[in-house]
Amino acid sequence: MASSTHSATDVRRLWPADMPLFRDHLLRLDSRSRHERFSGGMSDDFLVRYAQNCFGEGDLVFGAFIEGVMRGAAELRSSEAIWSEQAPFQSHIHAEAAFSVEEPYRRRGVGETLFRRVEQAASNHGVETIEIVCAPDNVPMMRLAGKFKTKFSFEENQITGRLTARLPTAFSLLREASRDVMDMTASVFDARTRDADLGAA
Ligand SMILES: CC(C)(COP(=O)(O)OP(=O)(O)OC[C@H]1O[C@@H](n2cnc3c(N)ncnc32)[C@H](O)[C@@H]1OP(=O)(O)O)[C@@H](O)C(=O)NCCC(=O)NCCS
Repeated sequence: MASSTHSATDVRRLWPADMPLFRDHLLRLDSRSRHERFSGGMSDDFLVRYAQNCFGEGDLVFGAFIEGVMRGAAELRSSEAIWSEQAPFQSHIHAEAAFSVEEPYRRRGVGETLFRRVEQAASNHGVETIEIVCAPDNVPMMRLAGKFKTKFSFEENQITGRLTARLPTAFSLLREASRDVMDMTASVFDARTRDADLGAA
């Protein structure tokens, strides 16, 4: 259960060693959330396979941690490589963003924090256009995206939101790279702690 006082949310990039955290977050989503996130009531088996395929060169995944547990995720996925920082002249890449926050942790700014991080990452990874696809009745997602000047269109029974990422600066590229180093260090530390806990159990 979430506590009544809202504790701080830490957002960091996820690396392959974090796959179990991402998978377990997806598995905690209830059937309605799974339907909203994946346009279908996705089985546990699907979600396990999905999580295993989210750490390729075209993927950036971020996790939102509350009291040390991952309660939200944002994915930015492209058919082109976006895993490392890219200078502005390499852009024109399109990527799709998707968000999930576990139901008891909603309406406390987690989605907005993740969205802001994805927008920054897109700009620093050469992504020009961010797309968000959701069902036409997904008011929370449309309102959230609307806060970031997303333009919506109705396409093939779904809503597609599009926004243009800002061009990176030397400072933003440097900041992204240093965040990656810190996040990768945290990822390794967390994985070692999990392994040690498993060994002690
Ligand atoms: C969409 C989702 C990620 C929002 O996460 P969240 O952490 O609750 O969002 P936030 O608390 O940061 O809210 C940010 C803004 O989104 C809008 N919003 C969020 N939930 C809303 C709701 N239930 N009704 C109306 N607006 C809502 C509001 O504009 C809100 O800003 P405000 O609090 O200043 O009014 C979450 O509802 C979710 O995981 N849904 C299931 C998965 C999904 O639908 N994903 C989208 C498809 S990719």
